[in-house]
Amino acid sequence: MTHPVFDPDSPHDDFQKKLEKLLSDYKQESIDIDSEASLRVVYARYGGKEGSLRMAVSDALRAAVGAEKKTIGQVGNIFLKKLEELLEEQRKDLCARARLLDLHRSIDVTLKGRVRKLGSLHPMTEMRRKVESIFKEIGFTIATGTQIETDFYNFQALAMPQNHPARSMQDTFYLQGETRLLRTHTSSVQIHTMLEKEPPIRIIAPGKVFRKEDDPTHSPMFSQLEGLVIDRNIGFSDLKGTLSYFLGRLFPYSYMKIRLRPSYFPFVEPAAEVDIVCFFCQGQGGDCRTCKGTGFIEVLGCGLVHPKVFEEVNQKLGFVRYDASHLTGFAFGMGLDRLAMLYYGVNDLKLFFSG
Ligand code: PHE
Repeated sequence: MTHPVFDPDSPHDDFQKKLEKLLSDYKQESIDIDSEASLRVVYARYGGKEGSLRMAVSDALRAAVGAEKKTIGQVGNIFLKKLEELLEEQRKDLCARARLLDLHRSIDVTLKGRVRKLGSLHPMTEMRRKVESIFKEIGFTIATGTQIETDFYNFQALAMPQNHPARSMQDTFYLQGETRLLRTHTSSVQIHTMLEKEPPIRIIAPGKVFRKEDDPTHSPMFSQLEGLVIDRNIGFSDLKGTLSYFLGRLFPYSYMKIRLRPSYFPFVEPAAEVDIVCFFCQGQGGDCRTCKGTGFIEVLGCGLVHPKVFEEVNQKLGFVRYDASHLTGFAFGMGLDRLAMLYYGVNDLKLFFSG
């Protein structure tokens, strides 16, 4: 761009130099700017209404006299225009750069999406599934009963008639004037299953059970897992083999051992309680608080199905489906919460029900 060149001795030469300096200052200041908004801010300081370049021109115009005014005006306009053109150029540049960046941004639609974690399963659910999967592998299916039971399913059919002392072991929540109750154990599912299915039977039944007790190690609601097998030639060795296989799979430690102690449940005979080696002291006992120094922890009750249970079921059916002369079976019931506490090292049962 050409513009009138002044005589170096003339006072106008200073004016032109001043404008040139301001223009180059602007260039310097705006060189690294990367947004249009900040560019406009810098521009305003030079070319805006009170910008230094515009003020320099109007000051000079005011000071000029006669024909000088015209020259000053022309020179001033040339510089103001230069400044404007510069801004426009820089603005276009910025836009082009932004567009290029945009075009270079690549989205790989073949990439796997990011899956948001939605939390995790409750330890009790994990525990139940683990136990279920071990039993499923060895031919068990899953059975269910109901949480509200009649006296028949929860007690009577399990060889606990009215006034049987064993009933007092399970403080019961009664409903509707004692005709209904909240099941105190999953053993009632044994009866449901036997009434519904033909032998052979090989089921497990996990579920919630309820007892009127509430202290640091007992909750009015807890979980059990029942097991029932009925077939020809089922003996105590099958029971022991099944349980030691299961417990060995669940707790695969070299020091793992199980121990059976004679016990009593009206619906099995003989009956036993099963202990496993305490994990905390690995069977050392001593002053271990978890096993109270015994080296073992009780995990379940079990035994061979009592013929009285067969009789109750046959009577309910109205015919003999379970003939004790050639069918036998075993049953077991374990506290799932207890198992989960041992498995995860949780020392307070109530933690499973809190947030
Ligand atoms: N139902 C018994 C209880 O809750 C446990 C058990 C089940 C015992 C099956 C023997 C056989 O204590």
